[in-house]
Amino acid sequence: MTAPAIRPVLMIGMREDAVVESSGGALTITQPFGRITVRGLPPGVAAVLRELPGRLVGEDEPADRLVASGGTSQEVALLYLVLSRLRPILVHAVEPLLRVVPIARDAVYQPRDLPPDDIVRLSRFALVRRSGEGLVLESPLSRHKVTLTEAAMPLLAALGRGVMVKEAPEALSHLVAAGVAGAGDTEDTDPALRAWDFHDLLFHARSRWGRQEGPFGATFRFLGELPPEPVVKPLPEGPALPLFRPSLEEVAAADPPFTTVLESRRSVREYGAPPTVRQLGELLYRAARVREVFGPTPGMPYEASRRPYPGGGAVHELELYLTVGRCEGLALGAYYYDPLGHRLVTLPARQEDTRAMLAMASTATGGLATPDVLVTITSRFQRKSWKYSGLAYAATLKNVGVLYQTLYLVATAMGLAPCALGSGDADLAARAFGLDWVRESSVGDFLIGGAPREAASGS
Ligand SMILES: Cc1cc2nc3c(=O)[nH]c(=O)nc-3n(C[C@H](O)[C@H](O)[C@H](O)COP(=O)(O)O)c2cc1C
Repeated sequence: MTAPAIRPVLMIGMREDAVVESSGGALTITQPFGRITVRGLPPGVAAVLRELPGRLVGEDEPADRLVASGGTSQEVALLYLVLSRLRPILVHAVEPLLRVVPIARDAVYQPRDLPPDDIVRLSRFALVRRSGEGLVLESPLSRHKVTLTEAAMPLLAALGRGVMVKEAPEALSHLVAAGVAGAGDTEDTDPALRAWDFHDLLFHARSRWGRQEGPFGATFRFLGELPPEPVVKPLPEGPALPLFRPSLEEVAAADPPFTTVLESRRSVREYGAPPTVRQLGELLYRAARVREVFGPTPGMPYEASRRPYPGGGAVHELELYLTVGRCEGLALGAYYYDPLGHRLVTLPARQEDTRAMLAMASTATGGLATPDVLVTITSRFQRKSWKYSGLAYAATLKNVGVLYQTLYLVATAMGLAPCALGSGDADLAARAFGLDWVRESSVGDFLIGGAPREAASGS
């Protein structure tokens, strides 16, 4: 890389969303991670701090201005002390290339001079994306983000292969301090880092509190702008097939005790007789029907439902589809489970897609299972993200987990053969069930067989 013709200038400022207010001798700085109040500041120090939001100044300018307005060396020391407390909102800039912005309460920023002959490379966990009208460089390993200008593009492009520190010492020192680039090969040698896939680590960082700047949690960000997705999915077109509804009293009387079910539950991949459509009806009724629709209520501005399995916010964004290979009373094909009407709707899936779904499920068991019935769980993503920011997809996957366990337990109690699957094909499922991948696609798969093979053979 040839060194940039520009001469970088180091500057500092506050996050643009920081607000500084003074009243009654106290200076209060409000920012996304909370509020800091400093009392008893000399007027000169307070004045310098009040001017910081919304603009960048040279790194030494606050202290220089304080001295120029008659500030003592004690006051300068106090200014630096207060600035160190403001770490989570201090922006460091290498103008005109980049700005390093903290995104977490406990962001620590310590740029230091790097050995001139060191080679710095972009982290393999770093990503560049558009945010507003600019580009932002981030990494889940970092508690900062870096905004980039067009002038930084040659440097960024060269960071794939590596750039010698002496070619851009200021910018590289800040990129390393921001945790998006580094010298050395820690990422390739540290066993803990090697074990992370790029997308998994990013998902982990952004779907928990800690190192992301929100909005996060139940923010209802589309309230008043878009209606929530309906509590149950509008029925797809196709012949409907009412399912058997068991009497819960009879089921409760006949079931093995809870601990027997829990202790005998296991994953079964080889089957005896196929399940009957009556058994499927009982399984779906006991595990996945809508028991009740309720709301909106104060604090919950959407219609929700209760089902046998729990669901974050009672949103219940998950849908069930069956791909039937072998089932007494049900033809080979694809079906949507209507959890409110407790019936199956036959879908116009192509046979080759149905067979591909079953083959994919078999592969997931290492070829052990010849699937009787594949239950594919999809998510209506917008139903979840209407309420939740940041964690919507993570919460959906957790909901898949509880539905898996509910299917496991009910199937075990019924003497069926359950097995969860961890690797479905969301594109194939969207094609087979006629779904728009972005709006609703598969997030889980579960096999249901008739009796386990050894039970069928009496062993
Ligand atoms: C989330 C999840 C994903 C799974 N994925 C698969 C899979 O893809 N293929 C498979 O044969 N079993 C799969 N299983 C079943 C596990 O292999 C099984 O639960 C584990 O070996 C323990 O055995 P047990 O269920 O009989 O107690 C999965 C289980 C869970 C909970």
